[in-house]
Amino acid sequence: MQVKIAKVKQIIDQSNNIVFFGGAGMSTESGIPDFRSADGIYKQKYNYPPEQILSINFFKRHPDVFYDFLKEKVLTPILAAQPNQGHIKLAQMEKAGKLKAVITQNIDGLHQRAGSENVLQLHGSIKNNYCLKCGKNFSLDYFAKKEGTVYCDRCDGLIHPGAVLFGEPLDSMIMRKTKEYISQAEVLIVAGTSMIVQPAAALVNYYQGDKLILLNLTQVSNRRINYFLKGKAGELLSQLYTDT
Ligand code: APR
Ligand code: ZN
Repeated sequence: MQVKIAKVKQIIDQSNNIVFFGGAGMSTESGIPDFRSADGIYKQKYNYPPEQILSINFFKRHPDVFYDFLKEKVLTPILAAQPNQGHIKLAQMEKAGKLKAVITQNIDGLHQRAGSENVLQLHGSIKNNYCLKCGKNFSLDYFAKKEGTVYCDRCDGLIHPGAVLFGEPLDSMIMRKTKEYISQAEVLIVAGTSMIVQPAAALVNYYQGDKLILLNLTQVSNRRINYFLKGKAGELLSQLYTDT
């Protein structure tokens, strides 16, 4: 249910064991479209469903179509993006010893650029691109500057973007650490996610407390939510935490 900001601010003020779990809605205020909102990536028209394009099978079968989509719809907005006030507030909360970890489904690296240090990237990072054949790592720059499909400059293998594609497993160590942080958290702030994609969404259910706060433009169906503030995560976080 919708609650007053003052109540949530008091919960945040009083805790030094807060964990954050976020999604694409954390980066829309930085100009990166999310996936499932009305103007999100998945609502636009393509020859194939975007969830199919962003899958490992499609990537291997149609690398050219995959790269066109990835560069236009994912990379270009990421390269132009700056961290927003939401990312900055979370980094301040970590520095103040209040926030233990940022857990994100995003691959854009904006939390780290805002100063957050303990960031668990459930769906990988667009910085960790690698050759499928020889495993060589490639930076975002190398990757972004190349026209069309990107191949390894050592063995000509296809370069896999650092993101976890549909049909690929999440990193087991990141999953284990995420479960630990969430299960031990006193306060869990969830923001900018539709909580649809598994296994990420189910991780929220490891939370054992009674202070699960959702900051989202739309309601999400998760009965574990204790406090829901409808609005933009960046704006809400700015009101909820003032760096003393
Ligand atoms: N502030 C708060 N909430 C927002 C904002 C904002 N500024 N902008 C959008 N939202 C909300 C939307 O209302 C929606 O509920 O954020 C949510 C974004 O949901 P999705 O687009 O489904 O993004 P996400 O939950 O991160 O998707 C999970 O799906 O496509 C895969 O791998 C991809 O990591 C992604 C995963
Ligand atoms: Zn190679």
